[in-house]
Amino acid sequence: MNEIKTLGQFIIEKQKDFPYAKGELSRLLRDLAIAAKIVNREINKAGLASILGDSGTVNVQGESQKKLDVYANEQFIAALRSGGECCMIVSEENDEHINIDSEISKNAKYVVAIDPLDGSSNIDVNVGIGTIFSIYRRTSVSGAATVEDILQKGTSQVAAGYIIYGSSTMLVYTTGKGVNGFTLDPSIGEFCLSHPNLTIPESGTIYSINEGNYIHFPQGVKKYIKYCQEEDKNTFRPYTSRYTGSMVADLHRNLIKGGIFIYPYTSASPKGKLRLVYECNPMAFIMEQAGGKASDGTTRILDLDVYELHQRSPIFIGSRLMVEKAEEFMRVFHREALEVLNGFALDV
Ligand code: AHG
Ligand code: MN
Ligand code: MN
Repeated sequence: MNEIKTLGQFIIEKQKDFPYAKGELSRLLRDLAIAAKIVNREINKAGLASILGDSGTVNVQGESQKKLDVYANEQFIAALRSGGECCMIVSEENDEHINIDSEISKNAKYVVAIDPLDGSSNIDVNVGIGTIFSIYRRTSVSGAATVEDILQKGTSQVAAGYIIYGSSTMLVYTTGKGVNGFTLDPSIGEFCLSHPNLTIPESGTIYSINEGNYIHFPQGVKKYIKYCQEEDKNTFRPYTSRYTGSMVADLHRNLIKGGIFIYPYTSASPKGKLRLVYECNPMAFIMEQAGGKASDGTTRILDLDVYELHQRSPIFIGSRLMVEKAEEFMRVFHREALEVLNGFALDV
């Protein structure tokens, strides 16, 4: 008989990998998993509970907040607040960072960044949505945590993960020693280890990008898309296009099957759309730990300087060889664009 290992058991076992661990990170992960289960319960009955649709409020980025966005945000904040291991939270849904200064959190070492509900445009239509989290050790030693405590490069992440609420619900996370995936067994209410040591194929045949924005894409991305669509038996092209509008769902699929996900800068969004702190960095950490790659087109995502909470970044992420190919296109056509600016007559 196959032995079932729950997320709780797995986390405790893994704690031995960190000789000085006192169990704080383990408890923090447990708190996030509890919130995930509560959010999952609401998502599953969303159509029944009249919590679909707009909440009537707008978040810091001017996007209208869905009721489930607000609900998920409240649940993750509440779980982190009552768990006592987190002293500060940054959320997509809150303009400012949130200090937790309760008695039980006064010695908490960790700060957490979350995208409580990723893929909000898919909430009303039963397409996969997700949650993304990123955990850092606070840099200041005492007193209330400040915004500086979270403005750390992605390389400093202690752990990162996502939950995908799809045809089944999964929690996938890394603490820098590989990636493991757990599927929620609704009959016992536990996340169970289902995808140990997840690795992404070094290449694949799926590209994920919102091609509706094609006209606004940089030249390198336009040319890379055309490359994906060309016929070449040796490289299994043309590739397949798959894009749901939920980064978590698109990246989860590509992690399992191999592929590339691109959200580039565009003439309409010159800094890209996705947020570095709670979307790009955690996903980049997971992808690298799975053997994949993530860059902004030229620079490794995890090496980017972080100077504000809701900072945006372009992202090219997924199978290593595919990301490297896309970067090559960005390099070549960036140079051409510069040459045009310098007066060379190039057909770009
Ligand atoms: P969120 O729902 O947290 O705002 O994130 C949506 C993100 C990401 O999940 C997705 O890949 C992308 O925005 C979709 O954007 P477009 O509709 O512009 O393609
Ligand atoms: Mn998101
Ligand atoms: Mn979101």
